Amino acid sequence: MVVPPSTILGSEKLRAMELPVVDLSAERSEVSKLIVKACEEYGFFKVVNHGVPEEVIVRLEEQVLSFFALPVSEKQRAGPADPLGYGCKNIGFNGDTGEVEYLTLNTNPLSIAQRSKTMSNDPSKFSSAVSGYVEAVREVACELLDLTAEGLSVSDTSVFSRLIRDVDSDSILRLNHYPPLQVDCKDWDSSPSYAKTRIGFGAHSDPQILTLLRSNDVGGLQISIEDGVWIPVPPDPTAFWVNVGDTLQAMTNGRFVSVRHRALTNSCKPRMSIAFFGAPPLQARIAALPEMVAPNRLSLYRPFTWAEYKKTIYSLRLGDTRLDLFRTSTDD
Ligand code: OGA
Ligand code: NI
Repeated sequence: MVVPPSTILGSEKLRAMELPVVDLSAERSEVSKLIVKACEEYGFFKVVNHGVPEEVIVRLEEQVLSFFALPVSEKQRAGPADPLGYGCKNIGFNGDTGEVEYLTLNTNPLSIAQRSKTMSNDPSKFSSAVSGYVEAVREVACELLDLTAEGLSVSDTSVFSRLIRDVDSDSILRLNHYPPLQVDCKDWDSSPSYAKTRIGFGAHSDPQILTLLRSNDVGGLQISIEDGVWIPVPPDPTAFWVNVGDTLQAMTNGRFVSVRHRALTNSCKPRMSIAFFGAPPLQARIAALPEMVAPNRLSLYRPFTWAEYKKTIYSLRLGDTRLDLFRTSTDD
């Protein structure tokens, strides 16, 4: 039996579990408490009533669909994912692969406009769809971060969102396309399970501050809060799924966890996801907030710049627990 490398086999367990839902239209102090609890327990939650207009989402989704429908040679005009640009199957620089193609864009409006020129037949339409989405989703990310700071009783409530609002923020947008498997859907029930489930995007945590992910109505995202146990995340195109990133884990001195997650291709239907990764400027210094440190809770991580963290990530595999390299001690 020849089993492709991205196949899931072995002792993994799947566990259905209800995941936290944050309703942004609810009472502010309640929302901030809920967010803190979700970030502590899961590093993950769903946001509903987020206020991003449906047409903003639809406009980008149409552009994403037409981009991935282009012949490969045209998609490659967006440049090799270095890490910005178009990538297919290869993730990162160190041999990680998955059944995915993706386009990564810087969220700076100038950079969006420039890249659109090389990769779309209607650059201004593409560029305005991306910019419109980025602006709206960045607002939600910043609102969530301000609520987070309030919930943590941090005195400077824009301490997180300021990093993402900064004109030099290194935030990015990634459009992922997980093509359907080459299994004849008529034979789905009788196909062996290894033929039905492949890794699209392998297990990892997101390195940035906060990720807001939205997908079409095809499932595939899973999170893990316990080794070897995966919780499927049901698709909901009307909502955003939010991941705590490594940087927020460091700034909260480990009080929040950056959630391990992955995406599978397990369907006869293509899956499409759009992820906004809210990141600091390259030179920003990342350290635990003073409120998160106490004599009996010393800083778990040494301070680093976002540039330094990114450089470290590029030297490692996707699944490595990268923040561990910045731990101040290995005692516990
Ligand atoms: C990512 C990611 C998951 C998905 O792009 O970092 O985790 O559902 N994607 O596409
Ligand atoms: Ni991710």
